Amino acid sequence: MIDPAFDEDEEGIEETAEPIEAAAPASRPEVRPVPRISIQAFCESPDLAATIEAIAGDRRMARTHVKVHTGGLAAAIEFYQDSATPNLIVVETSLGRDPLNAELDRLAEVCDAGTKVIVVGHVNDVELYRDLIRRGISEYMIAPVEPLGMISAISDLYADRTAKPLGRSIAFIGGKGGVGSSTVSHNVAWSIARTLESDVVVADLDLAFGTAGLDFNQDPPQGIAEAINAPERLDDVFLDRLLARCSDHLSLLAAPAMLDRTYDFDETAFAQIIDVAQGGVPALLLDLPHEWTAWVRGTLLSADEVVLTVEPDLGNLRNAKNIVDLLRQARKNDVPPRLVINKVGMAKRPEISVEDFAEALKLTPDAVIPCDPQLFGTAANNGQMIAETDAKSPVVEAFDAIARVITGRSELKRARRGGLSPFLSRLRGKSA
Ligand SMILES: Nc1ncnc2c1ncn2[C@@H]1O[C@H](COP(=O)(O)OP(=O)(O)OP(=O)(O)O)[C@@H](O)[C@H]1O
Ligand SMILES: [Mg+2]
Repeated sequence: MIDPAFDEDEEGIEETAEPIEAAAPASRPEVRPVPRISIQAFCESPDLAATIEAIAGDRRMARTHVKVHTGGLAAAIEFYQDSATPNLIVVETSLGRDPLNAELDRLAEVCDAGTKVIVVGHVNDVELYRDLIRRGISEYMIAPVEPLGMISAISDLYADRTAKPLGRSIAFIGGKGGVGSSTVSHNVAWSIARTLESDVVVADLDLAFGTAGLDFNQDPPQGIAEAINAPERLDDVFLDRLLARCSDHLSLLAAPAMLDRTYDFDETAFAQIIDVAQGGVPALLLDLPHEWTAWVRGTLLSADEVVLTVEPDLGNLRNAKNIVDLLRQARKNDVPPRLVINKVGMAKRPEISVEDFAEALKLTPDAVIPCDPQLFGTAANNGQMIAETDAKSPVVEAFDAIARVITGRSELKRARRGGLSPFLSRLRGKSA
């Protein structure tokens, strides 16, 4: 609720400042559960810290990851110099209009693409509010903030149907069968969850033979097959029940891996599942089988990004070229697929060089991974990721690199070097 007493006391506020209208609590609509996002709060006052701690335990926040830091805006700017930003930052400040705008510009410089910011302030001024919204700040709330008000504000940010979907879908496919596409997708998911501490769902779309359950050492009773069999029931709550939790940030929509039926679907069979899943998680990795059916093609063409894994031989080169050409042709406004050249240096195997492969496809590989049957075989047989089997292996860095690229974390570094950061660029877009 708004405390009008703040008007008089705060610096930088004009006499004529028009206060923001308080919303009547009775008129608040039902608050929707917040999707699977990471939230970090930087609190100046113990009061806000207590509120954030309290909301973290609310049922509507059960899917989120919340961390509370002490120190307000300045602490946040300092912290994100070296750390990736979460999906949402809540930052408390007692600054007035001009100094606040200057500090928020500094925060913008260290924010990753897609990060949203809620500012909790102590100045009740509608002009300041408008200023902040123009700058791309998602919400300005006046302290003291009550818990349900904060949950409602967060929920509204992600429930907005006109906003971009929360998550990106990234399809993984191989140039041939058995090249390691699933292995790459599972390890990249692990990197997103562990290294970037961001939520990720792996959907194993190899319904007959998928190994995601084995690789993550999970044996969930249900998964993607239930979702596809009950399209009328499919919403975020139902999907949530089908997910097997593998670790803190990583969940799996497992394949049945049963041969009691065949898996022939139409082109858009998975569109609804992908849509619902994307609404609830920042990264959805689609582990596609090496097949060419209507639904594999449809899913591949409609993903936000594609990661193509190949081995350096002629068959892979021919197939990869066809896949890359098709994607370039059908998706003229999208980035070309990311290329992973896997199992390089297999003993006694003649190979096409990485340079020739890249040149033929006109693509720079995002990762070149050596053939290491000992390491990969041990991980696979133990139901582990490579980082769990050997954390020091250079292969782990390759998976981390792909994770950063597909979640947009490397774009962040370019932005920091002089481009516009997300909420600054929104500001630029509006004033242009
Ligand atoms: N760099 C590597 N070195 C050695 N073995 C590897 C490497 N990458 C993957 N493998 C192994 O290759 C095998 C096939 O991997 P995976 O199942 O990930 O391939 P895929 O392309 O998804 O196959 P499918 O066509 O069945 O979907 C697995 O046994 C895996 O452990
Ligand atoms: Mg596979």
